[in-house]
Amino acid sequence: MSTTEPGEWDPSHLPPQDGRTYLVTGANAGVGYFASEHLARAGAHVIMSGRHPNRLAAAHDALEARVPGASVETLLLDVANPGSVRAAAASVRGGLFERTRLDGVIFNAGIVHTPRVRTETRDGRELVFSTNALGHFVLGAELLVSLAKSATSRWTPRMVWLGSISTRMGAFDPVDMQLERSYSGWKAYVQSKVAAQALGFEADARLRDARLPVQSVVAHPGYSIGGRTPRVTGVNEPGTVKRIRDLLQSPIAQGKDAGARTIVRALVDPSISSGEYWGPKYLTRGPAVRQRPSATSVDPEVRRRVWEACEELSGIEWPFQKAVRAAR
Ligand SMILES: NC(=O)c1ccc[n+]([C@@H]2O[C@H](COP(=O)([O-])OP(=O)(O)OC[C@H]3O[C@@H](n4cnc5c(N)ncnc54)[C@H](OP(=O)(O)O)[C@@H]3O)[C@@H](O)[C@H]2O)c1
Repeated sequence: MSTTEPGEWDPSHLPPQDGRTYLVTGANAGVGYFASEHLARAGAHVIMSGRHPNRLAAAHDALEARVPGASVETLLLDVANPGSVRAAAASVRGGLFERTRLDGVIFNAGIVHTPRVRTETRDGRELVFSTNALGHFVLGAELLVSLAKSATSRWTPRMVWLGSISTRMGAFDPVDMQLERSYSGWKAYVQSKVAAQALGFEADARLRDARLPVQSVVAHPGYSIGGRTPRVTGVNEPGTVKRIRDLLQSPIAQGKDAGARTIVRALVDPSISSGEYWGPKYLTRGPAVRQRPSATSVDPEVRRRVWEACEELSGIEWPFQKAVRAAR
């Protein structure tokens, strides 16, 4: 039974999401899978996207088994491949799906365990930045008109960018975003997450300037680990050693199912405003609360540089004016 006061947010009883459609990237595992599950359980239609057909099919089957009557479908989408991003977005835009509304998107897919040596995508971009930041910049551009079109008097479509507490711990070099001068796995991760947060805040500023009915929120799941997460066949199957190792971290960690609740709240809570930053109450774990982001990711100069770097690397600009016309 729920112990929350009337009007208080209850993460296990979301406001009904019937009639809403959300897209989640990296939905076949971890936070992305559990965010999809929470949304589907609340009645939303969820487009689960992922880069690998078998892993995506397994996650889809698992979700349908765990949430009877769930309305979900799958979409192949490799965020590190601009061609794949464009093709997937075209499918969404073209209404290949049963429902043509798009009420929100979670830019979740990410490389957490980064390569030790600098690795490039097929189009020659640094892999971690491409996956965690640039690919979602491209996806945001491709879906902006669909999001704007779906605005109603009762709901403003929203995008949620995945940040990280690591953004408080590491340096950011706005000159060497592609890490051509010096690379380490940790630096690649932190830079990509500062970039993702900066993109989320810059998107908010640009959406406001354009007076577009689309919101941009940044959120992070604290420290969410597989060994503290329920077993879900084909999605999360940690062995005994991992379970024990992760149990030892329980004072500072939570399951990915719990981490996903913060991300889902950032997506669906109507009391949240565009440009806010959300994370777990005890930083690495706990219920979702409003937080103050790292100074670097809100620095206007960093935001501008990251945005322009993404425009240059992708050759894409966000179609603000087209979206304004579509929203009318
Ligand atoms: N867990 C945490 O404590 C934590 C903390 C801060 C931030 N985050 C952020 O939260 C997000 C999810 O993290 P997680 O812990 O759930 O990680 P995870 O369990 O490793 O899941 C990552 C997901 O991203 C997908 N992915 C990776 N590269 C992709 C690509 N090129 N195209 C499409 N999908 C791709 C993976 O798909 P495959 O299965 O195909 O690899 C997987 O579905 C990430 O953005 C991460 O940076 C997590």
